[in-house]
Amino acid sequence: MDCLREWPEPIVRVQSLSESGATTIPAHYVKPPSERPSAAPAAAAGAVSIPVVDLGKLEDGADAETVKAIAEACRGWGFFQAVNHGVSPGLLRRAREVWRAFFHLPMEEKQRYANSPVTYEGYGSRLGIQKGAILDWGDYYFLHFLPLCLMSHHKWPAQPPTLRETTDEYGEELRKLCRRLTKALSMGLGLEADHLPAAFDEEGTCMRVNFYPKCPQPELTLGLSAHSDPGGMTILLVDDHVAGLEVRKDDSWITVRPLPDAFIVNIGDQIQVLSNAAYKSVEHRVRVNASSERLSMAFFYNPRSDVPIGPIPHLLTTDRPALYQPMTFDEYRLFMRKAGPRGKKLTG
Ligand code: OGA
Ligand code: NI
Repeated sequence: MDCLREWPEPIVRVQSLSESGATTIPAHYVKPPSERPSAAPAAAAGAVSIPVVDLGKLEDGADAETVKAIAEACRGWGFFQAVNHGVSPGLLRRAREVWRAFFHLPMEEKQRYANSPVTYEGYGSRLGIQKGAILDWGDYYFLHFLPLCLMSHHKWPAQPPTLRETTDEYGEELRKLCRRLTKALSMGLGLEADHLPAAFDEEGTCMRVNFYPKCPQPELTLGLSAHSDPGGMTILLVDDHVAGLEVRKDDSWITVRPLPDAFIVNIGDQIQVLSNAAYKSVEHRVRVNASSERLSMAFFYNPRSDVPIGPIPHLLTTDRPALYQPMTFDEYRLFMRKAGPRGKKLTG
């Protein structure tokens, strides 16, 4: 359990299982009945959905209406869809295309990037190192953009040929968007615009591209088990035409209906801690389906990993004392990486 060097069992690519044509899934992808997607009836289609926020007027984090809409969404839901976010639809399309092309390369080519639990970087098929764990129905590719000491193009796929430059451009645009959003989040807490962003000086940025192959028994498994994101904030780009992400609201799971070219933004555990739980890092999970594969790109915006993160002192009052002890993101992530996606553990 303390050893993060190797996976506890040989890695099987979910894509290979899917392409084998089997009509049943192996037992170690079958969730216990209470965790199956069918256990809680989904809310009636269209009944409730995560807020949509138009970022068109946000500029450098200063438009009062937009700040309010973002803050309300992050207090109530921990999630919103961002439209008019300023990242060009052409770049979104290219980014999805190169990554979809990567997952459709021959297995031999992808295996060159097989990852290990030491850093998770590369091509992976499980999160967590517990032997005998029930696994999720998804493969992924994990990579770092920042800090530069962790970033190396050689760890990114060489094929398709435009993947590296497209991914660089995508990472740079998303980092800028995150900077604007953290300013807005800071103002939404009643703080100076630069107060929350200060925690993200020399930020870490990384991305997990998730690939969920078709699944012959989607009602028995999940593409990604319920979890909250450990970092600061996540910007998710999903396939427009296929739903899959579900967000917890009270006791039900709400399906996100993706708007074309929108980003799904969510608060991670570190911003929940910094905001002393004003903003919520909410559990979410992914369903798979029998008829379509699904690609998603989760861009993670994280604080510097070696400074302790605790509630911002300006937010603390006698009525609302600090809810968390400071901890570095490195310490926090190590804990999460051993456990894999397991709901909310530390910041509940
Ligand atoms: C994640 C995540 C959601 C999705 O990668 O952390 O929650 O829709 N992904 O793939
Ligand atoms: Ni997530």
